[in-house]
Amino acid sequence: TELGCLSIVVLGASGDLAKKKTFPALFNLFRQGFLQSNEVHIFGYARTKLSDDDLRERIRGYLIKGAPAEKPEILSDFLKLIKYVSGGYDSAEGFLSLNKEISEHELAKNSYGSSRRLFYLALPPSVYPSVCKMIKSYCMNQAVPTGWTRIVVEKPFGKDLASAEELSAQLGELFDEPQLYRIDHYLGKELVQNLLVLRFANRLFLPLWNRDNIDNIQIVFREDFGTEGRGGYFDEYGQVFLHLTVISYTGTIDWFIQILVGHHSSGRDCTFSCCVSKQVLELCPKSTNFGTFSYRIIRDIFQNHLLQVLCLVAMEKPVSLRPEHIRDEKVKVLQSVLPINYDEVVLGQYEGYTDDPTVSKDSNTPTFATIILRIHNERWEGVPFIMKAGKALNSRKAEIRVQFKDVPGDIFKCKKQGRNEFVIRLQPKEAMYMKLTVKKPGLDMSTIQSELDLSYGQRYQDVQIPEAYERLILDTIRGDQQHFVRRDELRAAWEIFTPLLHDIEDGKVKPVPYKTGSRGPPEADELAAKAGYVQTHGYIWIPPTL
Ligand code: BG6
Repeated sequence: TELGCLSIVVLGASGDLAKKKTFPALFNLFRQGFLQSNEVHIFGYARTKLSDDDLRERIRGYLIKGAPAEKPEILSDFLKLIKYVSGGYDSAEGFLSLNKEISEHELAKNSYGSSRRLFYLALPPSVYPSVCKMIKSYCMNQAVPTGWTRIVVEKPFGKDLASAEELSAQLGELFDEPQLYRIDHYLGKELVQNLLVLRFANRLFLPLWNRDNIDNIQIVFREDFGTEGRGGYFDEYGQVFLHLTVISYTGTIDWFIQILVGHHSSGRDCTFSCCVSKQVLELCPKSTNFGTFSYRIIRDIFQNHLLQVLCLVAMEKPVSLRPEHIRDEKVKVLQSVLPINYDEVVLGQYEGYTDDPTVSKDSNTPTFATIILRIHNERWEGVPFIMKAGKALNSRKAEIRVQFKDVPGDIFKCKKQGRNEFVIRLQPKEAMYMKLTVKKPGLDMSTIQSELDLSYGQRYQDVQIPEAYERLILDTIRGDQQHFVRRDELRAAWEIFTPLLHDIEDGKVKPVPYKTGSRGPPEADELAAKAGYVQTHGYIWIPPTL
């Protein structure tokens, strides 16, 4: 029933998130036929004065690698769909001219009555309220009820419970919940999306997935690089922005740029060019007050990505696959999490972190944390969820590790071989493998650890796993909010971490140092062991080479 033309408006079009994630995702959707030239138009909006062609040239380089060699014209076909409108983020004039452009497109497509408008805010959250106000005042789709207007936003949604609630209230006054799509890009990852299917479509797991069989669950995020010049964002995101109100645009501007880029990229790519600096200036006039707060690993990774994964691992079976049914169950999990016990927290900071010129010398910002969460319900009581995230470690991976209890009445002495584990590798190289004890092949009757391995690269050789953003944008167009964070979910997530965050800020809880390139502080491994996790010695899973 969703007919009519589709206008996708990328606000912050010349920025880093737009160039690296939003436009490439849109291009991939176009390339695969999900966006049709005869109905879609893409509008870039930002402060810089640019022509349509300037914007196209700026983004072309980021799209080329996705363009199929056998059909190079597809890239120029896509670029032709893009128009640019310049204007401020609180300028009525700017948004009026944006509305004019969109309406002209709708009229030209003769579908003014049933058009769809999607606004993607590739902007710092501090400007969300003013931009949303402008959209609401000047750019709403008038084609209600057949058409729609939807808004896509991304973290950070506040810095703690109070600020997140304030932002939610500001946006909530302007838009209804079904119009708001809060992205957590982890929800767009293939194996995160698979969790529901895995858990509820397999008889094998249904009876095992509980406290009777599972000893502990780890949810781990590791990165093998540090904050690399984006420490300022990570550490004191707000204060650095504030610098701009008092200093001139020289010297420190470079790290200011890094901060913004760091936030809007995956964090791996921290090289910057002059054109970024222009864009940053345009986004952040000297008078902009972005507030002051620290942005720690807990806010960057735990409160959002890891908690979302936890919800999907721990939730009860939803009544149906309707987004509201799924999100209802996720909220229940979050609300069942007990207050964090500080004896079950290890915070770390990698040595050399404070050498970053963007970080204050006495910063106690954690770049690593292991926090045990406990879910107070019938299914999970007594099962520790060992949540771990860290920067500058010895590897880059994200995985869920479900460790089962020992076999009772063991006649093989399997305990020496290690426990059964079910591992879901979210990245890199998506895989699921189950660690089992088997008879060692050969004449002897001895046992070894082996695995049942479903490595996606090997099993699904012809499938290109879509980027998280690609999927999420498509969901937005389709109106499927299943993989987006609902307001009450956000609130419940902040409730879990806010007391700890405040205590870190007050210096009541401090990180211990750890070596760059290590597993993190040894105290974290000790905590996991104390909670019940038994490391398997002498067994390594070797992913297939394909
Ligand atoms: C972002 C964080 O949300 O996620 C970054 O701000 C982190 O610090 C990134 O590097 C990780 O994303 P991915 O998809 O590479 O795991």
